[in-house]
Amino acid sequence: MYKEIIQKAIEAREKAYVPYSNFLVGAAVRTKEGKYFTGCNIESASFTPTICAERTALAKAISEGYKNIESIAVVGSIEDYTFPCGVCRQFIVEFGKDIEVIVAKNTEEYQVYKISDLLPHSFGPEDIENV
Ligand code: THU
Repeated sequence: MYKEIIQKAIEAREKAYVPYSNFLVGAAVRTKEGKYFTGCNIESASFTPTICAERTALAKAISEGYKNIESIAVVGSIEDYTFPCGVCRQFIVEFGKDIEVIVAKNTEEYQVYKISDLLPHSFGPEDIENV
């Protein structure tokens, strides 16, 4: 069931631009319409502008008009599960507390979480709706 999205994340990982860390990460987003968007991490010589694979993939989906996000798969290290960083967790929860986060080593070894479990008691759009 998760093979397709993981495979896309694995392929996106090959595109990682990581001259500083050498740590390749790939991500794939699946929308509720069944569309996929992929991303890799892109580093910067001044470090701070570095963007994670998860945010690259999400930015592609949102900027193409798809914000009904169903799930996101992440493949970093192939020996260990790579979880989204704090910034990415916040970026993901913006688009839904039920989004599934699949952390994978490969298409056979993966774990599935809900973003609300990875970022409990989150601050999100509902908190500023009526300001
Ligand atoms: N990174 C990601 O792309 N996603 C994660 O979930 C963890 C970290 C990237 C940022 C940086 O390019 C490299 O991994 C090392 O931190």
